[in-house]
Amino acid sequence: MTAINDVTKLDIIENVGVITLNSPPVNALSANVREGLDIGVKKAIENNDVQAIVIICEGRTFIAGADISEFGKEPKGPSLFEVQDVMENSPKPIIAAIHGTALGGGLEVALTCHYRIAVKSAKCGLPEVNLGLLPGAGGTQRLPRLVGVEQALKMVTSGIHLPAEQCLKSGLIDKLSSDDLLNDSVSFAKEIISENQPLKKVRDINEKVEAAKGNDELFKNFRKSIERKTRGFLAPEYNIQCIEAAVNKPFDEGIKVERDLFIKLISGNQSAAQRYFFFAQRQVAKIPDIPKETELLDIKKVGIIGAGTMGGGIAMNFANVGIPVTLVERSQERLDKGIGIIRKNYENTAAKGRITLEEVEKRMQCISGNISIDSLSDTDLIIEAVFENMDLKKEIFSKLDLIAKDNAILATNTSALDINEIAETTKRPENVIGLHFFSPANVMRLLEIVRGEKTSKQIIATSMVLAKNIGKTAALVGVCPGFVGNRILAQRQREANKLILEGALPWEIDDALFEFGFPMGPFAMSDLAGLDIGWDKETSRGETIREILCENERFGQKSGKGFYIYDENRNKLPDNDVEKIIQEFAENKQIKRREIEKDEILKRCLYPMINEGFKILDEGMAIRASDIDIIWINGYGWPIYEGGPMFYGNLIGYDKILSWLQEMEKEHGSDFSPSPYLEKVVGEKINIFS
Ligand code: 3HC
Ligand code: NAI
Repeated sequence: MTAINDVTKLDIIENVGVITLNSPPVNALSANVREGLDIGVKKAIENNDVQAIVIICEGRTFIAGADISEFGKEPKGPSLFEVQDVMENSPKPIIAAIHGTALGGGLEVALTCHYRIAVKSAKCGLPEVNLGLLPGAGGTQRLPRLVGVEQALKMVTSGIHLPAEQCLKSGLIDKLSSDDLLNDSVSFAKEIISENQPLKKVRDINEKVEAAKGNDELFKNFRKSIERKTRGFLAPEYNIQCIEAAVNKPFDEGIKVERDLFIKLISGNQSAAQRYFFFAQRQVAKIPDIPKETELLDIKKVGIIGAGTMGGGIAMNFANVGIPVTLVERSQERLDKGIGIIRKNYENTAAKGRITLEEVEKRMQCISGNISIDSLSDTDLIIEAVFENMDLKKEIFSKLDLIAKDNAILATNTSALDINEIAETTKRPENVIGLHFFSPANVMRLLEIVRGEKTSKQIIATSMVLAKNIGKTAALVGVCPGFVGNRILAQRQREANKLILEGALPWEIDDALFEFGFPMGPFAMSDLAGLDIGWDKETSRGETIREILCENERFGQKSGKGFYIYDENRNKLPDNDVEKIIQEFAENKQIKRREIEKDEILKRCLYPMINEGFKILDEGMAIRASDIDIIWINGYGWPIYEGGPMFYGNLIGYDKILSWLQEMEKEHGSDFSPSPYLEKVVGEKINIFS
């Protein structure tokens, strides 16, 4: 065995040079991995005992891509291109031996090998698009040469990880290994030598790309098929252009196109935001004062009180992963209704082909119901999801205190009530926590985990891990009105409602935010949710536009009219009647209406949100700025390529936002009072992301 460097060794096994990389956690292509590969391959080529070369990795995975943390820093060591050049031109066949995931630059390394073998559980993909990038080491030119143009387009624009069996079928790999990858790859190498198989260079395999030459329709149709999903993102289109180049240009020219577009993307704000998101998404799971080793509670059974909109959706999360759930309702009728809706939801998913009917039954078997809270005495986690009413919640928690197991987690799904107050009704406030799911709870990825004053570290740590196990992205937040997400949302709602009185129309505001990248604006969103949530006919006095709309039986989409009017396909259209209602209302309030530009709409809606983010950080209600961004991207549709409110604010310049707030405060009062922490950050040039 020869140690090449800290992360690379070279062994010779029966005339096969085996280069092993070991750079935890994911063997990313950092400078020393590139150096190890470069020297290792050169040494193996020089060695007369070596007839073929295997590249294999230790740890949990094959190379998972370029080292993302190196982007934007001074390049060190050999470039990936240089290493690939040595590999592709090796006079001895090189075989990539893949386990775990071969992703991005990792797959690009494998694609410059002459052969690829993988274990069945392995997956391959070019996920650069998710970082706002494209494969920048020949991936866009080599992949379609192996798997064909349509499959390559799908892979580079979605970033999917293709399972090994499908890789074999599509031509991406040459052979499947049983579980002994090292042995199998050495045997494969010997077979290649003994049969004198050719040195297959992917760059020279042209049949599949030539088959698509001149087929403009293929690209046109593909673009159309992903148009909605990729709105606003630059990287998917640039990836497509690279595949077009692979089809229409010789290999080396295609590489130039790839290089130019890669540089454009990597130096732009979208990729910076998406790379930031990648790390933020992982960081949010880390809680500074809770050690990684904290012993977790075992959650084998879950109880949910309230089988309404939220309770039903929450239950599905657990049933999806095979954790039994008991739903408790006020009456058998309500219980049956709630469970019926869950079944319907699953059946709809099955009808779309996303799960099988057997799977529907399997999940339904995890769900049982009861009308007595006593049935939850042996559950490990109980989530209360009854009406948003403090007295009712307190009553339920004091009952739970009597019947729940000693170390059961007692959680509430409240979206606004004081969790400390709820916790105090029990003798075990340390077991009480907020698990704030978002609607629809079976779909939305975000979970705000609300830490009460007394919540124990074990309860928090268990909740964080449980969230991951049910496929949620959890962010730990503190107790304050609206917690983090809704508290920031309230700023946007307030300004949007003021703006319609000052002169902007609901659709102008919605359009501005839609163009910014949100899936929909606040008024379309309100129409979707229903304007009558929390509205009471008896007490309604026409004091807000919303009240007036409800008084006119305009409840939103469900009644065909709200801020918009809806056609039979639920397409929304601006409505003159709404414009009149707003104008009259503003006139009565003596508000002078004026023309409001898109730019002002954006500032008015977004800057107060950023300001609120600073207040939240100052109060310690979120651990870090990037957690706020994770909440807004996963829970409220802030476009990933704009990085979340705090990242976006940094791009605009916090100093500019502060000056704007100061001006606005002078003219319009305390809605715009800057956060003292924002003033400090600007004054002392503090980097809130470090
Ligand atoms: N660069 C740097 N760090 C990386 C990394 C990478 N490519 N991939 C993962 N990591 C880090 C993570 O930040 C995390 O660090 P932490 O423990 O300090 O938080 C650690 O590795 C483990 O990662 P995960 O928590 O994500 O581990 P999982 O086992 O859940 O997932 C994975 C493993 C599927 C490999 C996942 O990490 C992943 O998808 N990684 C990114 C893959 C990727 O995007 N590759 C393309 C990179 S761009 C590129 O290659 C450009 C090229 O074309 C030139
Ligand atoms: P919902 O009205 O759809 O469901 C509440 C259910 O609780 C009803 O089915 C009701 O019969 C049941 N219930 C009431 N008292 C009960 C009792 N004593 N025992 C057993 N069941 C009882 O309400 P929804 O929307 O599901 O909200 C539930 C909680 O989730 C509220 O605290 C709400 O603030 C919160 N929340 C709601 C969100 C939403 O978008 N709907 C989002 C996030 C949180």
